[in-house]
Amino acid sequence: MDESGVSAQNTVMIFDTTLRDGEQSPGAALNVDEKLEIARALEEMGVDIIEAGFPISSPGDFLAVQRISQEIRGCIVCGLTRARREDIDAAAEALKDAAHPRIHTGLGVSDVHIRYKLRTTREKALEQGVEAVKYAKKFVDDVQYYTEDAGRADPAYLYRVLEAVIAAGATVVNIPDTTGYTMPSEFGALIRGIVENVPNIHRATISVHCHNDLGLATANTLAGILNGARQVEVTVNGIGERAGNCSLEEIVMALKTRRDLLGLDTGINTCRLYPISRLVSQLTGIPVQPNKAIVGTNAFAHSSGIHQDGVLKERTTYEIINPRDVGVPDSAIILSARSGRHGLRHRLAELGYMLDDDQFEKVYQRFLRVADKKKTVDTRDLEAIVADEVQMFFEETYHLEHVQVSCGNQSIPTATVRIRGPNGQVFCDADHGTGPVDAIYRAINRVIGEPNELIEFSVQAVTEGIDAVGRVTVRIQADEPVNGAERRVFSGHGADTDIVVASAKAYMFALNRLIAARRETEKRARASQ
Ligand code: KIV
Ligand code: ZN
Repeated sequence: MDESGVSAQNTVMIFDTTLRDGEQSPGAALNVDEKLEIARALEEMGVDIIEAGFPISSPGDFLAVQRISQEIRGCIVCGLTRARREDIDAAAEALKDAAHPRIHTGLGVSDVHIRYKLRTTREKALEQGVEAVKYAKKFVDDVQYYTEDAGRADPAYLYRVLEAVIAAGATVVNIPDTTGYTMPSEFGALIRGIVENVPNIHRATISVHCHNDLGLATANTLAGILNGARQVEVTVNGIGERAGNCSLEEIVMALKTRRDLLGLDTGINTCRLYPISRLVSQLTGIPVQPNKAIVGTNAFAHSSGIHQDGVLKERTTYEIINPRDVGVPDSAIILSARSGRHGLRHRLAELGYMLDDDQFEKVYQRFLRVADKKKTVDTRDLEAIVADEVQMFFEETYHLEHVQVSCGNQSIPTATVRIRGPNGQVFCDADHGTGPVDAIYRAINRVIGEPNELIEFSVQAVTEGIDAVGRVTVRIQADEPVNGAERRVFSGHGADTDIVVASAKAYMFALNRLIAARRETEKRARASQ
């Protein structure tokens, strides 16, 4: 029993091979520092075993296994070898500083591998495997044995190999469907057959390693678990040789989501799934397909009006996983021509726009026209639609009367502003900054004091030539909730032939909107008291 009272048999060990099989994906080459970064993230997420590489395959792989062994203390670090002494020597050397080292050795078991790849016989291959386990045991206690291409092997021969390598000291036996050939019922039966026919199987953990050539890696891995496997070999985003390996996030979330049926746990902190998916994609350069289960950008995005309406009424109508459980901030309502009024109203409210029915109807009709032309309507489009259709529906609380800046390559940028406040009072203040715009924004903040963060600043020339009018757009984020929306964003625009003045106007515009929205919140709060 562990601390949470779950029996060890009810826990499925997560063996991550992103850095070994995953890195074998065409085009995915990671340097040692990148591998270390991924290893740290895997450890933090709670994987049980990290297969850090194949030490004899290259000096880079050797170094990666060595550095990961030196740094990672919270999980088993594993190195792959063929069933050869020189491979095992290299792995033992690379793993020598690991807190929990494991050597993963093995050999093919299907006739096609034995005959054509190994050019040997079943008996000789069996002997070689046993020798390899015995040799690896001289260096580490924890030896895992892989029976390559087990999915296409003769089960009777596979049972003999497993019995012999367990007798020689293998602690884990890995049953790979190397070519992704089997069907779930077949692979499940293979594991069941091992449980029933290998006399000493209780002395080892059964691991499954499924490839995705027929898109069945996750289904086969689950079938393996259902029939007795208690270790799964997976990669982040399912990357790996050819069509890849079983995806870590899919198997972990299948076990978690259907715990009612399967009654099994993993040690994974699922909130780390999405961040690690991004990290691996970024470092390997392999994009995640948008519709990828669990971590694809569309995995929690709702586009049809009927679905949006359902999810907004009750998330579980169309979602079996809470996006926050996998580290995705929230479900996304994608506004498109198929979105209904409910979805649009929700998005507008998120942006802090509380429109009356007439205003909303105007915005909705305009939204439909825009959505017909564009695939999706984003926040900026919506803001432009609202600004156009509903005009300036906020009062200007502060008015910028005067702005003056002094800057140059030998001086500290300094700005002075004069601002007229709510009751006609006039405030003057000055500040310095890293540049003229920064100086202006600081001076304005000294007068207005509305806490916010500038999250976007862009300048565009709207006319041509040296006297072009510059249009500045800023987006600021309120530090405190406004109209019930956390960290609501307000945009502001300003145009002038002097872009410094345009910047000041844009910032004042956004600030006035923030202040008007806050005032509205306070008014509603008072009315509801
Ligand atoms: O797919 C496979 O058989 C492998 C082994 C080396 C474990 O990756
Ligand atoms: Zn593999």
